[in-house]
Amino acid sequence: MDLSRELYRRARALFPGGVSSPVRAYRPYPRFLARGRGAYVWDVEGRRYVDLCLGFGPLLNGHAFPPVVAAVQRQARLGSLFGAPLELEVRVARRIQSLFPSMQRLRFVSTGGEGAAALVRLARGYTRAPGVVKMDGGFHGSVDPLLFRAGSAAAGLPASAGVVPAPQAPTYVVPFNDADALEALLAEAKDVGLVLLEPVLGNVGTILPEPGYLRRVRALTREEGILLAFDEVITGLRVAPGGAQERFGVTPDLTLLGKAIGGGLPLAAYGGRREILSWVAPEGPVYQSGTYSGNPLSLAAAEATLERVNAATLSRVEAETRRLVAELSEVFRRAGRPVSLPTVGSLFSLFLTEGPVRDAEAARNVASAAHGRLLRAVLEGGVFLPQSPFETFFLSTRHGPRERRQVVRAFSRGVERLPRRDRSRGRLRDH
Ligand SMILES: Cc1ncc(COP(=O)(O)O)c(C=O)c1O
Repeated sequence: MDLSRELYRRARALFPGGVSSPVRAYRPYPRFLARGRGAYVWDVEGRRYVDLCLGFGPLLNGHAFPPVVAAVQRQARLGSLFGAPLELEVRVARRIQSLFPSMQRLRFVSTGGEGAAALVRLARGYTRAPGVVKMDGGFHGSVDPLLFRAGSAAAGLPASAGVVPAPQAPTYVVPFNDADALEALLAEAKDVGLVLLEPVLGNVGTILPEPGYLRRVRALTREEGILLAFDEVITGLRVAPGGAQERFGVTPDLTLLGKAIGGGLPLAAYGGRREILSWVAPEGPVYQSGTYSGNPLSLAAAEATLERVNAATLSRVEAETRRLVAELSEVFRRAGRPVSLPTVGSLFSLFLTEGPVRDAEAARNVASAAHGRLLRAVLEGGVFLPQSPFETFFLSTRHGPRERRQVVRAFSRGVERLPRRDRSRGRLRDH
């Protein structure tokens, strides 16, 4: 019997869905992994996979990246928690600032979701306007005011059960890539203090901003005196060293970072304009704290990662990502199958449709059970990738031509399993 199947049986008795986070579960059972190195992971049975999941994004330099391993070991010997400020904290913050100059001041937290919750509270405290605008399909972690029409494993749900709509502090949802809808909403709702968006949607597949869209969002929020926050948890370090704000040349008031900055350890940060951050405790009245905030092991991994982030390295990963996407596109073309493979930096995703997918509704409409079967076949072909049409795929600096060949081979076999006519389209609004 497959060991993963047996472990999953035991795990399901212990954990809801057998997992510690929903998107890790898939049918008939998820692979239990034992180790990773560079671009590869091995499951508990010793099978090796090229990894396009990379922990759902953080591992920009792949698994067990030697400088990260060395830095974490060094720090573990010096101590893993102090409850006191550290020189390391100052060094890492400086490096983040040099990449993200808009983060004039920042606060370290442990996870993206924690940072998103803090950012919403800060915006509400600073502006005294309780309304928050998010994008349909935008995902910012399991944060109550942001779990409306979210992405990732919540992609099919209007809202999570247990999240109570709060008329005093409303969440408004508008479609991505539709600045007119945002303009109309802002004309109507007079209690909005924050517009929060992923500048590239990454949790309903990858959806790129259309030319001029982010600029218009910036102009509209500025005109209305509303704060604009970019959630760069996925895009930070991945679409440019300084994230989407560098790549698209649009500067938000607030920024949320996570995933890649921690080099595989839990680290996130929110920050932005000096006077806004001065509202955070203990300097200001907006309370936010964390025992593990700025954890030394995470900061050590972050320093080892950030020291090596530069435009040349990232453009090499981007070029490799583009080559992979071009070859995959050719696989679908030869098989006569429609595909759209949006890509930016070291991110890409796959929609089984020709047309560009410009918002979450379109992504939900093309998701299908056949897509799920394709991903399953690719997994069986030796590529570990998120088993959901709503997730983004990632490359690392350790992926090269050999890994590309294996991925292309696995997709070529997977494409053969696609039905000629897909009747499941649009019905897989969740997975
Ligand atoms: C864009 C974005 N923001 C925030 C989060 C939440 O981060 P975390 O899972 O570290 O809480 C995620 C997680 O996938 C994300 O993709």
